[in-house]
Amino acid sequence: MDMARSPRLAKGMDSSAAHYTASVFFDWRLLPYDVAGSIAHITMLAEQHIVSAENRDQIIAGLEQVRQEWESGTLTPRLEWEDVHMNVEGRLGELIGPASGVLHTARSRNDQVAVDMHLYMMDVAELLKSRLLDYMRALVERAEVDMDVIIPGYTHMQAAQPILLSHHWLAYRGMAVRDFERLEQWQTRANCSPLGAGALSGTPYPTDPARTAALLGLAGVYENSVDAVSDRDFLMEFLAWAAIAMVHLSRLAEELVLWSSVEFGYVRISDAYSTGSSIMPQKRNPDVAELTRGKAGRVIGRLQGLLTTMKGLPLAYDSDMQEDKEGVFDVVDTMDAVLTVVPGMLRTLEVNRGRIARRIGQDYTAATDLADLLVQDGMTFREAHHLVGMVVTELENQGKGFAEADVEWLKQVAPAIRPEWMALLTPENLVAKRLQPMATAPVRVAEQIAAARTWLAEHDGGPPR
Ligand code: ARG
Repeated sequence: MDMARSPRLAKGMDSSAAHYTASVFFDWRLLPYDVAGSIAHITMLAEQHIVSAENRDQIIAGLEQVRQEWESGTLTPRLEWEDVHMNVEGRLGELIGPASGVLHTARSRNDQVAVDMHLYMMDVAELLKSRLLDYMRALVERAEVDMDVIIPGYTHMQAAQPILLSHHWLAYRGMAVRDFERLEQWQTRANCSPLGAGALSGTPYPTDPARTAALLGLAGVYENSVDAVSDRDFLMEFLAWAAIAMVHLSRLAEELVLWSSVEFGYVRISDAYSTGSSIMPQKRNPDVAELTRGKAGRVIGRLQGLLTTMKGLPLAYDSDMQEDKEGVFDVVDTMDAVLTVVPGMLRTLEVNRGRIARRIGQDYTAATDLADLLVQDGMTFREAHHLVGMVVTELENQGKGFAEADVEWLKQVAPAIRPEWMALLTPENLVAKRLQPMATAPVRVAEQIAAARTWLAEHDGGPPR
């Protein structure tokens, strides 16, 4: 009996059409989830006296063997069986004979594929949460190691005000916490079983969908069978989650590309995370960072792809929905790869303290603070802003920083500015004065690190590294 061919279809399938419609070559990774779903299903059917205990035991033993063959790599996908679901059932038939035909009672591939994807995505969430934790750990480690480094903070990509480099790293940690929490919140919504919906209307058998959900460790059951087989929100939302997380990682990657350039020279990306040029011997290319930035585009594209696939689909299941898989799997693999490599790149980064100190000595990132001193002496901020702007323009023409300003000249052009202030405008003094909550003073940043460590310990299970 040709399992994949309905008796309604007299002719064999055109070979190009068979390749075109088959999903088995990409949904193969769902096999252990498909087996788990089938074991839960047949267990429930036997409990409800819909199938015999004998059939259940035969089927479970056969399914366990199919899973083992898959795990050991001896099972190969067969095109004539179209998708992973029918490959499992087909192989089961070879192993246990006609009793395998009982398994698909009160079930459709529509609820089957949906439950497989839910189960797979639950494991994916756990994996990516652990990867995110390691990324956060790497950021906190950097923050601890770089507490003595003050960089010019930027707005409009122009040197703005000095901040601790640690403060900068911890900004990315804040994004990662939100990414982690978003993934957890997504998990609570996606933790739901569609099994029991059948093709779309439910089934006339006395099944117990809550029981299969419980057997599978899923928290609940869809309220509506049509929604259960039509819903791909959980995948679209996952892709949206990934797109946002990748935007964060891409911004970090862009800064590392920029900061490792000869022009900036703030950091040196370890050889272990760099590549050479095939033609230019002097080059050390920040490939890992560049590809992280580049892969953000790919992930965003996958989100766009699935949204576009879904937007015109009538209820309930349509074959278009098979297109969800390659994009989701690609994003899962991409997030896994990015979050595996980026922590190592961060941990092995060398910070060029001398270069950063020279750079911050030459800029005018103390200008706001100089204006603030004038305000303390009674000038309005607008006036002070104007006066300091004029002084900066002059100093720039002279090629001098605030600290090198000629005292006599200063008295002449800006008598309101007390010359002794100039020596106080060091980056260390400037950051130390920013004591408000969330500001960059070392005491505040140390508190952020402590809070981050506590958070990690709470979410990690294990002791903080
Ligand atoms: N391979 C299909 C998918 O990935 C499984 C569901 C097929 N259902 C059907 N009625 N053709 O969506």
